[in-house]
Amino acid sequence: MKHLLFNNFTGKRVHLGVSGSVAAYKSLELLRMFRKCGLEVSVTLTSGAQEFIKGLSFEALGAYRVWERMFPTGEDVFGHLEPGQAADAMLIAPATASTLARIANGLADDMLSCQALAYDGPVLAAPAMNPRMWDAPATVANCATLRERGVEFIGPESGDVACGDHGRGRMAAIEPVFASTLRAVAPSDLSGKKVLITLGPTRERWDAVRFWSNPSSGLMGASIAMAAWLRGADVTVVSGPVNWWFPEDMKVLRVDSADEMFEAAVSEWPSCDIGCLTAAVADFKPVPHGEHKFKKEGADSLTVEFSANADILKNLGRMKKDDQQLIGFAAETRDIAQAAQKKLQAKNLDLIVANPVNMPGAGFQSATNSVHVLDRNGRSEQWPDLPKTEIAWRIWDLLQQV
Ligand code: C5P
Repeated sequence: MKHLLFNNFTGKRVHLGVSGSVAAYKSLELLRMFRKCGLEVSVTLTSGAQEFIKGLSFEALGAYRVWERMFPTGEDVFGHLEPGQAADAMLIAPATASTLARIANGLADDMLSCQALAYDGPVLAAPAMNPRMWDAPATVANCATLRERGVEFIGPESGDVACGDHGRGRMAAIEPVFASTLRAVAPSDLSGKKVLITLGPTRERWDAVRFWSNPSSGLMGASIAMAAWLRGADVTVVSGPVNWWFPEDMKVLRVDSADEMFEAAVSEWPSCDIGCLTAAVADFKPVPHGEHKFKKEGADSLTVEFSANADILKNLGRMKKDDQQLIGFAAETRDIAQAAQKKLQAKNLDLIVANPVNMPGAGFQSATNSVHVLDRNGRSEQWPDLPKTEIAWRIWDLLQQV
């Protein structure tokens, strides 16, 4: 989940409503992740939620305020109005049938429903209940009402539920709930933009079991894709053989070889506004040995012949129209800025992000990177060592100035 941990939300606040389901433990993990992203989190537990989980757990994990009852004692007499005045989004996770019914019908008979009634910002709900309760006409009608009012539903998922039944009702996984909530509080400055990202390594098959590849984790590209999605872009990812989680509404084309990546990227590019090619594409592929496994018996050495793969980035650069922008990466071991400058021109790019691959804390499989960024107008910046998610965020900031 490293590609979801953006540290760009300091000063934002989510109000987390937790209602009574066995899935309530997931809300603790959500809180932990929000805190990692710098978000402030306040929490309200319904009385049902308190049967499963304690307010103290949320406080211990960094919630700055936890409400557990409708009429708190002390100074906090307007707690039912507080999130409405200060929270940037409200997430109800898990959301039970009863909590959804209360909110849909404007009841204000517990703290969470009061706070929801007095809240006019973005509301998200991650339902969790028995599949028969989810399918019940009353729940269907309540959810339709809430959707019509703009509540964003994440899940529920199909699968086995706690009571042993099988069907739709299980609370969605952490990733979609977390990512959708971040998107609700993120700027939407890339909304209306269609973005193409390539990421990960490629695998060039040689025989039935062997391939030529590299250790790219795809984290940089996955972070760039998520940053664009959070900021409102319509994102298409062409992913080499790595397994990052992406939201359901992102188009993800999974490929293996450079040839497959080339085909997918070239066919998507004409309909995109921005391309960002982070994939560590193999420059050469072995001439295939055949469909069977090569037998080592009797062989002292092995010579494999290679042929060149097409340069995907260069081809997209050639196809690029005036209203499209193209970003490339350059993995270098020396003379980073000069090498990147050459590639910027040779591949007709708007921006190039060059990084050393022979330094600790940068390059393949690292969570951080130390990059040099150059744009087509002569801008040249060395950025400090930063998490790849932070670099991703800054790339989108910068591109809008090119
Ligand atoms: O020339 P070099 O391989 O260093 O360029 C790296 C950039 O080109 C990266 O953005 C990479 O994704 C892209 N590339 C590509 N197709 C290739 C080789 C590299 O798109 N065959």
